[in-house]
Amino acid sequence: MSIKNLLLKTPKNVKVSGWVLTMRCQKDFSFIKLIDGLQLVIDNNKIQCDNITTGVSIKVIGNIVESPSKGQQYELHVEELQVLGYADPEIYPLSKGKLPLTYLRSYPHLRCRTITYRSIFRIKSSITFATHLFFKENNYLHLDPNILTVNECEGGAGVFQVTEKDITDLTKLEKIKDTNLYDWSTDHFEKPVYLTVSSQLQLEALCCSLGAVYTTNKSFRSEHSSTNKHLSEFIHLEIENCFIDLDDLMNIGEQYIKYIGNYLLENNIEDLINLDNFVSKGIINKIKTIVNSEFIRLNYIDAIDIINKSENIKIIYGEDLSSECENYLTEHFNNNPVFVKNWPISIKSFYMKQNDDNVSCSNFDLLMPHKVGELIGGSMREENLDKLLNMMKIKGVDPKPLDFYIDLRKFGTVPHGGFGLGLDRLCMLFTGMESIKDVVPFPVCYKNCSC
Ligand code: 4AD
Ligand code: MG
Repeated sequence: MSIKNLLLKTPKNVKVSGWVLTMRCQKDFSFIKLIDGLQLVIDNNKIQCDNITTGVSIKVIGNIVESPSKGQQYELHVEELQVLGYADPEIYPLSKGKLPLTYLRSYPHLRCRTITYRSIFRIKSSITFATHLFFKENNYLHLDPNILTVNECEGGAGVFQVTEKDITDLTKLEKIKDTNLYDWSTDHFEKPVYLTVSSQLQLEALCCSLGAVYTTNKSFRSEHSSTNKHLSEFIHLEIENCFIDLDDLMNIGEQYIKYIGNYLLENNIEDLINLDNFVSKGIINKIKTIVNSEFIRLNYIDAIDIINKSENIKIIYGEDLSSECENYLTEHFNNNPVFVKNWPISIKSFYMKQNDDNVSCSNFDLLMPHKVGELIGGSMREENLDKLLNMMKIKGVDPKPLDFYIDLRKFGTVPHGGFGLGLDRLCMLFTGMESIKDVVPFPVCYKNCSC
């Protein structure tokens, strides 16, 4: 039972269990702080507790009273104490007081016993919950397409291949006769299958019958980037809707982010205060600014002009925006979020709707301030069959696994579009954490898969 619930009920003979965050022994009394913040007061003459240290799990019975000291409103005066499990202070990794996040990252299975990570993951849980509230209120259907897939969706993103074979000894794999090629026909699906990099293409199919849909599937990418924003496995909020235009898409993205920000300010203020006090100074004000800000909308070509007016960064039309460019743009607009739209199709995906100029496409990336950078990638989808097939040819996309996708353009094609948002990056934005590894319970990233 949480402390708040305890206080609403009878304060006598309350049973509490938990892990010790700190232990302070004085002459007559000892003070134990549990990891959820409750202070326990122990009369040393009644209960012997000098073997209790940080990390020990205990069960106590006692009475809740108003606390005379600063730092907490209530405390629990212990009548009975039982140790459930000891944690040897010589080897318990969290024995010492304040520990750096980089150190705690090595202990993903224990770090949630700290105030900081408890707040981060409560916030993350709220983000997920509020996401479903928002899309329900907006009449979106929540459907999660398949994770195992034959399509690669984002060409350059890098896919993980899936097999049921034990591939520790490659010489044991069956080869196609007289070749060195692995014979997929003997594998589970009789062909190469991947972990999805995006559920978009299947969502398009669903949306072209059901209307507004979204998923919170995971996506998997084998990019070799060890940045603080890239994971090999991330939560991918993707939405898709039909009979809409690019402005509608940007509107829903902006409304969603503001909704989540407001939800956190209303429902997780204690967690935000914790972060504001310890690791993310100013996070509350940053969130307030975002929910009240105007999201800037500008064309890629104008973004290039703005960047080139800067002193140090130069970029030419047709180049992708580096993190440096992204940060420059959001700072240029006083830390407002910035939608950069109508990018050159040459550097974007085959499915994006081509504009009449035959050079750009109807898409956007949403850039967020405070070094979060790209949070959303979205576009209208090319609904014209010939244009789509032509672009697939130009980009060398194999049409075979995309028969279903091409059918959508043959049978009652409609204007439609959607976007993908990295939910872990959204959590970085709303907690102020600078590394994505700090907002994921067990981060899996390039050269790191530990649990
Ligand atoms: O821009 P991306 O690659 O777009 C797509 O995958 C589209 N198919 C989405 C769609 O239209 N349905 O990825 C979308 C977002 C990025 O803006 C970023 O926030 C996040 O997904 N993302 C990652 N987050 C963490 N680690 C990674 N390796 C990520 N790659 C992309
Ligand atoms: Mg992108």
